[in-house]
Amino acid sequence: MRLKLVVIPVLLAVAVSYYVYIPLPDAIQEPWRLMLLDAGFRTTLHLASLMDWLGLDHYIRSIRRSTEHFEGMTKGLGPTESGGGVMLGVKVSDITFAGIPVRIYEPPAGGEGHLRRGLMFFHGGGWALGSGKRGSYDTINRMVSDELNTVVVSVEYRLYPEVHFPVPYLDCLTAAKHFLSPEVLAKYAIDPERVAVSGDSAGGNLAAAVAQAISIDDKATVKFSIQALIYPVLQALDFNTPSYLQNKAIPVLYRDLMVRFWLQYLGVDLSLLPQWLVNNHSSLHHSAITPELRSRVDWTVLLPQEYKKDNKPVVVEKDSQGQRKEVPGLLDVRASPLLAGPQTLAKGPRAFILTCEYDVLRDDGLMYARRLQDAGVTVTSEHLEGGFHGCFSLIEWPNDFEIGKRALRSYLNWLQTNL
Ligand SMILES: *[C@@H]1O[C@H](CO)[C@@H](O)[C@H](O)[C@H]1NC(C)=O
Repeated sequence: MRLKLVVIPVLLAVAVSYYVYIPLPDAIQEPWRLMLLDAGFRTTLHLASLMDWLGLDHYIRSIRRSTEHFEGMTKGLGPTESGGGVMLGVKVSDITFAGIPVRIYEPPAGGEGHLRRGLMFFHGGGWALGSGKRGSYDTINRMVSDELNTVVVSVEYRLYPEVHFPVPYLDCLTAAKHFLSPEVLAKYAIDPERVAVSGDSAGGNLAAAVAQAISIDDKATVKFSIQALIYPVLQALDFNTPSYLQNKAIPVLYRDLMVRFWLQYLGVDLSLLPQWLVNNHSSLHHSAITPELRSRVDWTVLLPQEYKKDNKPVVVEKDSQGQRKEVPGLLDVRASPLLAGPQTLAKGPRAFILTCEYDVLRDDGLMYARRLQDAGVTVTSEHLEGGFHGCFSLIEWPNDFEIGKRALRSYLNWLQTNL
């Protein structure tokens, strides 16, 4: 009897640590915090798959519900920094821009007649999850508005599974065009020379794609003056870049999960995941993928040696039969901004690109920084050595990381001096 009292808790503790523990590189600080976050996320994914399998709900909708539930539970439990005075002056309104729902943050009125800066923000979440209205995105945009005296517009573009490419992109583009119209800028007292576009992860993908479209649009009289891309997703041809391989098991954006987000976004059958993981979808058999296009994502040329290490490119000569179906969107620059040609890139606005060492998307960001620079665009490439994917929005209790606060601070500082 007494033995059981000891053995059961010990076994339970062992089982829990086994579930929670994952090996992480030494450079990642606060590893236990990340492991706990990851264990929570994995549990959510497993439960969502179970719900889906039972036919009770689409797994994406289950994940959304769990996240909202978690946020509801933790709201107000942690140290209440966001209740502090700095946030109070910002006026928040939920309206629509040409039919697209947006949340606008207006800073406290400055001196009369003074024009303010503007920033359009697209949140991350694999084109399937998240909302600019919730959690740390709301906090971050309030901070930008307050600290930088900026009118921030956060766009609630539609998500998978309700829609897929190009709808999320088109929602963002529509909202951007509306924002940049002289009437709207005048209404919010925004200086047309100081308007930014920004986003993290899938939102960084949308920001890069929208920035390109606006910069080559001859009809657009006002263009974005800068773009701030936080660990953006930029290409779907190569899932075997050194960073995809090095970080395939680093939480929370596992390589499989990122590839899955891509399949969902492009409307591809999820059963093709194993083929995409080994680059079978971009084999040399695909004549539409010209050598020119391949060179635009060629990390063997575009990455500095320190990131290439001793990796070898994974290029498939001939794919298996099932792969021959066309994937609309695979070569579309609106989905993969890294595929754009130098003439398009050259017209783009000055850029801030934040990359994290422990992120499958590290090389997407580094390659884009290099190609923008080669095209003559001024780029600030901010690389966080101990950073991991998602840290930028992990700034609030109970998921507040020092590295996340550093990422956010570097974003705010860059905007402060460049916008
Ligand atoms: C990828 O294509 C090769 C060549 O046709 C084939 O042998 C291999 O089984 C494919 N891999 C997957 C995971 O389907």
